[in-house]
Parts: sequence; structure tokens; C-alpha cells
Amino acid sequence: MDNILVHSDEHVGMRVPMKYRDEKAVVRPANLVELIAEVDKIFSEDTVNVDYVHALMESYKSNPADWRAYAKFDPHRYTRNLVSEGNGKYNMMLLCWNEGQGSSIHDHANSHCFMKVLQGSLIETQYYWPAKKGQPMKRKQTTELMLDQCAYIDDTIGLHRVENPSHVDSAITLHLYIPPYSECHCFDENTGKPRTAKVTFWSKYGQRTREAPTESADPDSSKRDADLRNAMAQPAP
Ligand SMILES: [Fe+2]
Repeated sequence: MDNILVHSDEHVGMRVPMKYRDEKAVVRPANLVELIAEVDKIFSEDTVNVDYVHALMESYKSNPADWRAYAKFDPHRYTRNLVSEGNGKYNMMLLCWNEGQGSSIHDHANSHCFMKVLQGSLIETQYYWPAKKGQPMKRKQTTELMLDQCAYIDDTIGLHRVENPSHVDSAITLHLYIPPYSECHCFDENTGKPRTAKVTFWSKYGQRTREAPTESADPDSSKRDADLRNAMAQPAP
């Protein structure tokens, strides 16, 4: 059964075990292993307090020694690297962003998404769901996420695009998706047109996967790949 996620101030929060009701009571995990152990405990319960998970993720102080083994970069696309499958309840992963790499505008397939910065900084731009066919998408807000900050989004909040704004530094983020998903939708900013895209892992537990980066494998890089191929196919002037 999927977890039910609620906020601290919702009356249904009473279903959350007492020890997870108050996010101010979070104990900072000493390292990534402790963070995962605590996340495992939280998601072993049916009902989960979003605010507690958010505070827990933010309290972890990024230490490269904890996550270096999962940090795999690709020169052409940002990568998704699985760290934990959480007994099927969630996926925890590292996303590695080279200089200037970014995602397309996407939804989260009715899942909940926490995103914490482990290295560098990220720009998150949120969008409203497309209102009318063929109309440009409307921006909701843009936030710069700094080291150790954590953001949260789900489909009720809207859509977003994530980018590494730096042209000199790479960036790494730690993501928690509840429940895990293998498909989502990407949206064209100019028209709001959606398309379904599969999501795959560049590596799992530090090992390169056999999931080939096909055009549809990574929703957020495929357009750029196609653009790149088109550009390369152009005859020289
Ligand atoms: Fe996202």
C-alpha cells in the first residue's frame, strides 16, 4: 500500500505516529546512512508527515564522503542515480547536473517529490498546469536552492523545471520520490503540449545500469539531445 502523506497542520495528521508529528523535533542524521535509516522508519508507517520529512532532509548536512560513490556525471545529460528503493515505498536518488544542464518542465505522476541540494545550487521554476491548448505556460515562481536546502513539490502544487545555473560548477541533488514512478509528462513551454516520457537510471547503487539512454529514457534531456542531433545534421554554412 502506498503511504498517505499529510501536513502537520491537517487534522488527519493525527494518524501520524506521535514521534513524527512535530518537524521541530527532528534529530539531525549524522550521515546519509542514518538519513536513509530514518526515512525507512518513517515510510514503514501508513501515514507520513510531509513537513517532518522535509525538515529531516534539510537537517542532513551534505558530506561528499557519504554520497561520492553515487555521483555519476554524463557530459550530455543530467543523470539519475539510484541510492535506495526503500522497500518499494520510495526511491531515493542522486541527480548530477553538469554546468548549465537542466530538466524540461515536468509533472510528478501523482507522486511526492523532495529535492535537496548536496553540492552547488539549483534554480527551480514552478509553472501552473496548462490552462488552454496552444497557449504559453505561465510561470508561478522561481527559487534558487542553496546548499542543504530542500524543496517539495507534487502535482497539486504544479509543474517545475530544474536547472544548474552555473557555467563553471556542477551541482548534485538528493531526491526522494514517494511512491516511485517510471513515467511522467514533459511539457512544451510555448504550447503546454504534454508528452509521456519514461524515466530511467544512469546507475543503481553506484553501478552503471544497462538502461540505455534512449531518446525517451530521460524526459529532461531528450529534447536537448534531439536538438543537438538536428544541429549536427545541419550542413555547414
Ligand atoms: Fe521534478
